[in-house]
Amino acid sequence: MSRFPVTLTRHILEQQAAHPGAKGDFSLLMAHIGLVGKMITSSLRRAGLINILGLSGETNVQGEAVKKLDVLANETFIKVFQTNGLVCALASEEEEKALVLPEAWTQAKYMLLFDPLDGSSNTDVNMPLGTIFSILRHHDPRQSPQETDLIRRGREQVAAGYLLYGSSTMLVYTTGQGVHGFTLDPQIGEYVLSHESIKMPSRGSIYAVNEGNYHKWPAGMRRYIDQLKVKDKSKGRPYTGRYSGCLVADVHRVLLSGGIYLYPAEVERPEGKLRLLYEASPLAMVVEQAGGLASTGTERILDLEPLTLHQRVPLLIGSREDVLEAEAAVKATA
Ligand code: AHG
Ligand code: MN
Ligand code: MN
Ligand code: MN
Repeated sequence: MSRFPVTLTRHILEQQAAHPGAKGDFSLLMAHIGLVGKMITSSLRRAGLINILGLSGETNVQGEAVKKLDVLANETFIKVFQTNGLVCALASEEEEKALVLPEAWTQAKYMLLFDPLDGSSNTDVNMPLGTIFSILRHHDPRQSPQETDLIRRGREQVAAGYLLYGSSTMLVYTTGQGVHGFTLDPQIGEYVLSHESIKMPSRGSIYAVNEGNYHKWPAGMRRYIDQLKVKDKSKGRPYTGRYSGCLVADVHRVLLSGGIYLYPAEVERPEGKLRLLYEASPLAMVVEQAGGLASTGTERILDLEPLTLHQRVPLLIGSREDVLEAEAAVKATA
């Protein structure tokens, strides 16, 4: 019998069958992330027509001007997960504090961290956007989770992934058993397996970085980027530059084609820009599961011991050889 089409639901249920004790909560949780993705897709597809572009007028805990679509995506997540009994705590890039759900903690064994809308500078220009999610286990069902329970090392994630709202909507996720990509078929309203067991090339020829920050970087990083542009046939150089302003879209390209995405440390901003728990950790889990690496320049992202919910971190992520080379350049001038 043909395996086509393998929907997200079927794929998750098949994976669940391999875990005899599983009660189906995780499958439902993933199905609800898929639902959030459909709801956000539906808003984005009509965004230019229904007055949801532009700024909300608020500033978030990150110090960023919030877009109306940031609010809408954040509210969508909260609306879906606040009452479905699948998670006992939520943390969002857009919320200062974690949302602990007191009625849910006795039965819900998962906690969810998310970047509801990634790449929000792209909202008003019809460019790609994303959503990133990270799932943790709540270990002790006898106790209500605390905010500190969400501040955990990336390697403790149970699952992680993203939605990419590009020319089509894709959901890419890992539970630590490989990385699988699904494309939303708008005609049937289902995510269909389109990229099974994604494996990244060990080296690519694409780099993604905001080069406008060049003069803010330490010398090692500047030299690394300079070298990528020097002709060297044996290393496939010069590399091609591709930067969309949406981390999810840029990392997705690197995941499928190889290469490197960088948001490095700056001399006056050594902590970098991207958020460890909502952006770097989940994408690091995905990329490592596909054979790549993710580093701060000096440490593996998944090993970092976070201290705060909104902690930032420099990020070098992509093909194994590319990340090792970028790390060497960073360490040379560390
Ligand atoms: P967000 O929209 O969730 O705040 O994330 C923005 C991030 C990321 O998507 C992107 O790669 C990066 O910020 C872009 O930053 P610059 O505009 O500084 O290049
Ligand atoms: Mn933001
Ligand atoms: Mn983001
Ligand atoms: Mn965001």
